[in-house]
Amino acid sequence: MTATAEGKSAVGTGHVRLEGLDKVTGAAVYAGEVHFDGLVHGCLVLSTVARGRIRSVDAAPVLAMPGVLDVWHHGNAPRLNTDFVGMLGPTDPLLGLFQNDRVPHAGWPVALVVAETPEQAREAADSLAVDYEAEPHDVEFTAGRPEAYTPGGTPVGTVETSKGDVEAGLAASAVVVEAEYTTPEEYHNSMEPHAATARWEGGRLELVDSNQGTPMVAGDIAQLFSLDPESVRVRAEHVGGAFGNKGTRPHQVAAVMAATALRRPVRVALTRRQLFSVVGYRPATAQRVRLGADPDGRLRVLDHLALNQTSTTSEYVEASASPGRTLYDADAHRTSHRLLRLDVPTPTFMRAPGEAPGSFALESALDELAEKCGVDPIELRLRNEPEAGPLSGLPFSSRNLRACFEEGARRFGWAGRDPRPGVRREGRWLVGTGTAAATFPSGAAPSTAAVTAEADGSFTVGVNASDIGTGARTAMALVAAEALGVDTDAVRVRIADSDLGPAMIAGGSMGTRSWAWAVSAAARELRERLVPGAPVPAEGVTARSDTGEAIGALPQKERYSFASQFAEVAVDPATGEVRVRRMLGTFAAGRIVNPLTARSQLLGGMVWGISMALHEEGARDRASGGIVGGDLAGYHVAANADVPAIEAHWVDDPDPDDPVGIKGIGEIGIVGAAAAIANAVWHATGVRHRHLPIRPDRVLTAGQEAAKA
Ligand code: MOS
Repeated sequence: MTATAEGKSAVGTGHVRLEGLDKVTGAAVYAGEVHFDGLVHGCLVLSTVARGRIRSVDAAPVLAMPGVLDVWHHGNAPRLNTDFVGMLGPTDPLLGLFQNDRVPHAGWPVALVVAETPEQAREAADSLAVDYEAEPHDVEFTAGRPEAYTPGGTPVGTVETSKGDVEAGLAASAVVVEAEYTTPEEYHNSMEPHAATARWEGGRLELVDSNQGTPMVAGDIAQLFSLDPESVRVRAEHVGGAFGNKGTRPHQVAAVMAATALRRPVRVALTRRQLFSVVGYRPATAQRVRLGADPDGRLRVLDHLALNQTSTTSEYVEASASPGRTLYDADAHRTSHRLLRLDVPTPTFMRAPGEAPGSFALESALDELAEKCGVDPIELRLRNEPEAGPLSGLPFSSRNLRACFEEGARRFGWAGRDPRPGVRREGRWLVGTGTAAATFPSGAAPSTAAVTAEADGSFTVGVNASDIGTGARTAMALVAAEALGVDTDAVRVRIADSDLGPAMIAGGSMGTRSWAWAVSAAARELRERLVPGAPVPAEGVTARSDTGEAIGALPQKERYSFASQFAEVAVDPATGEVRVRRMLGTFAAGRIVNPLTARSQLLGGMVWGISMALHEEGARDRASGGIVGGDLAGYHVAANADVPAIEAHWVDDPDPDDPVGIKGIGEIGIVGAAAAIANAVWHATGVRHRHLPIRPDRVLTAGQEAAKA
């Protein structure tokens, strides 16, 4: 298996997951099942009040229970350092486990019980008596509350943008759309709940974890416990889904706290129900979109105002108004965000943060404008294609939205669509089709990698990627094989270990692009250093890369992926049931590294769009302040029966400034999907649904109101 002169086109070739066999046979070991001698188990105790303070924790009876080793709470926990800025911004006070007696929301961690077995820990945790001094809480999210305010900043971008005069523009517009849209709290619900196993070994802290980036978690843990960063090792070899909330969370802090005190390996695994209060979620949003246009649909005004809830302890901005900054230009153009502080957990990034709820509002409004102008929804969007960044004036690195619509419309069969709503009946079903545009930022962040030529002719890639289900490990093998000019089988890949060095996290749709940049750079350098035909020494030959400088030198451009989404739905007006019959997404999202896993990634996003449009809703109970039915029985995510024939396609769209041509496909699959479905429901029924999810009761109520009118 020596390097071939002509090279190979491994990138772009479908390849099954390298760890697939291990996963399906159970050989892959996850953070919640790794075994260490002497392992003991911790269970978090969460507050039952939504606001107040802890008066007392009565640990004595629990300490007398079978197997219980210790209990930590605000009265006896070691001091932690929470005064630092991590990779994703200022530290969430949630990580300052048991540092004071305040309770800012229902489900706040108030204690940790550690016992010999998970069952003993859980029973003891359930028995722990915590006495609270409850205060009145406020969890009511509605638009128009006077306490809403404009935040100072957000890790995901600018809070407000503005050019031109919106009010004057609306007054001068022949056609105006003004509508309010809402989306509920939504939860990540990875298949694998968060789990971490901590131990001290040879003077180092080792954390076997399920996360999106070991450098992020290792850095946070070192800071929190004031440890030398070199003494902290975090591994996350297999991760059963993440979607934005597998950063540093209370379970890792709890595991390290207990392992340090007990000097025994400690595992803290969260229960499914605990995920509904301690690992973040997508906040509820209320969005107002105002569009002004000429009679032919050309936009004069785009005004998108988005409100979301945040907690009393941290600010989280769901940047829902952001898609309009990329998709459409207008003389008067304003996008702005507001927050409402409530006694709820701090929201966090969730697949396409901002773009997912924001595209529902914006792309629904565009459909309303198309209706009012009597212009086909695709034609309306193409008439509004900007030449350059609407706000920056910078060129796009590439913008193939038009191709996505042309190719998508052809495959979906859009031509000849009757634009009239509510006129297609098939038995008891009303049938309609809808479409939406989508965009998501494409970025790369500095990363390091090492590629080693081994004496046996194989190659070892070390890159601190995290494979959260995307197939990152396999993608890196393909990228390395192509750069080395060898068979993919000759490449082994080591990932997800903080000892491998710094790298981008699996987030922001930037992981694959960032890691591939580093891997291809190291592989190319190695190839230059190897003498063809000469034997490789026993210790191998290693080349290393650091992409910091190269990425810092990227020319300023508008860098985005684009997509078109199409959906066909059937609505039963007698029951209010909505069935998605088929969906088709067409993506211009850079060079596709592994078509097999890329298709899965895009389809997964589209499935989530169905889920978002029709099912998902975290119902917050005003009385308790918590989520009602916070589990997979009470919170419905799209299941097989909800998912019809779905297709994901892509158009050729290599990024001109990326060494591998990648843009990133982590998140764009969900963007626009809910809007395409909502627009199809309008086309089927003639009723606009501006509040997600489009539940049967909402369809029935709207149908009755429409019948009265
Ligand atoms: Mo993604 S929401 O950046 O993990």
